[in-house]
Amino acid sequence: MSQSLQVLIAGSNGQLAQELTRKLAFAGHRPVAMARPRLDLADVSTIRPALSSRAFDVVVNTAAYTAVDKAEDEPERAVAVNAAGAGALAAAAGDAGIPIIHVSTDYVFDGTKNSAYVETDPPAPLGVYGRSKLEGERLVAQGQPRHIILRTSWVFSAHGHNFVKTMLRLSRERTTISVVDDQYGCPTAAGDLADTIVALLPHIMSTHASPDAFGLFHATGRGTASWFSFAEAIMNGVAERGAQRASVIPIKTADYPTRARRPAHSVLDSSKLRHVHGIEMPPWQRGLDAVLDELVGQVRQE
Ligand SMILES: NC(=O)c1ccc[n+]([C@@H]2O[C@H](COP(=O)([O-])OP(=O)(O)OC[C@H]3O[C@@H](n4cnc5c(N)ncnc54)[C@H](OP(=O)(O)O)[C@@H]3O)[C@@H](O)[C@H]2O)c1
Repeated sequence: MSQSLQVLIAGSNGQLAQELTRKLAFAGHRPVAMARPRLDLADVSTIRPALSSRAFDVVVNTAAYTAVDKAEDEPERAVAVNAAGAGALAAAAGDAGIPIIHVSTDYVFDGTKNSAYVETDPPAPLGVYGRSKLEGERLVAQGQPRHIILRTSWVFSAHGHNFVKTMLRLSRERTTISVVDDQYGCPTAAGDLADTIVALLPHIMSTHASPDAFGLFHATGRGTASWFSFAEAIMNGVAERGAQRASVIPIKTADYPTRARRPAHSVLDSSKLRHVHGIEMPPWQRGLDAVLDELVGQVRQE
């Protein structure tokens, strides 16, 4: 590695923040992860002091209000963190002359397209969370032209709250689990997204970086799943590791009402990331295997 970078990670306890901290250190960089109250995206007065506390080379914003259903009941808070806070962080990075990598979501789309969404497709969020993240994209781009916005989806890891961990808990409590089979997306291991961010750094740090290196990119695990087929893959992995699996029953979204509406088909096309940066994320099943190895244990050798 040529250059060791001091990286400010906004958010330190989230799925992506934890993986990114580990991967950056492994790659020889110097991550500094900051959480509330020291860096609170809902309190913009904390942002500039946090950013100027050290000579950071780059900022990565992993912090977000991610409670999709709860956001419907507290839209001001979701917007404060995901839009105003993210925008203020980008503006501070712009003033400091350092690039920012910001993470967004497939929920900026309404999920009515039958094929995978590309970056130029018009967004049309269905709920408060998606709207707040879309406004965040706009404000980040406005605050620091040297930005990369990575839209990702269905993030899972061995820590924090996510679908894989919920399925593992339910498999210990029940014999059958009902899971919706008419919402499709791209599961993404937080560790794989962290690898992508680490790989992007040299491309955006160079003073000769082309303007094409910056902008909006889709970045998800390779391949598609419904929540049902994702759950099936988790249960198969559980059984392969010698643990008790539950049966998964497919149901319709209409049979599992939630506070926020979710896109039916929010599959993202990540080929721009490959064309511009030469980065191809691995199949989501690989990340799932790694997480199950960590949470359930290694497959027993005969
Ligand atoms: N999870 C997904 O399925 C998913 C899907 C698509 C996109 N994304 C995006 O991917 C990124 C990373 O997601 P993730 O799964 O790692 O999220 P996560 O595990 O929910 O972590 C989010 C982190 O943000 C922090 N946070 C919340 N409000 C904050 C505030 N006001 N100031 C500072 N930090 C604050 C939280 O802190 P506390 O720990 O203190 O609460 C938490 O550590 C986010 O931008 C998210 O929108 C996630």
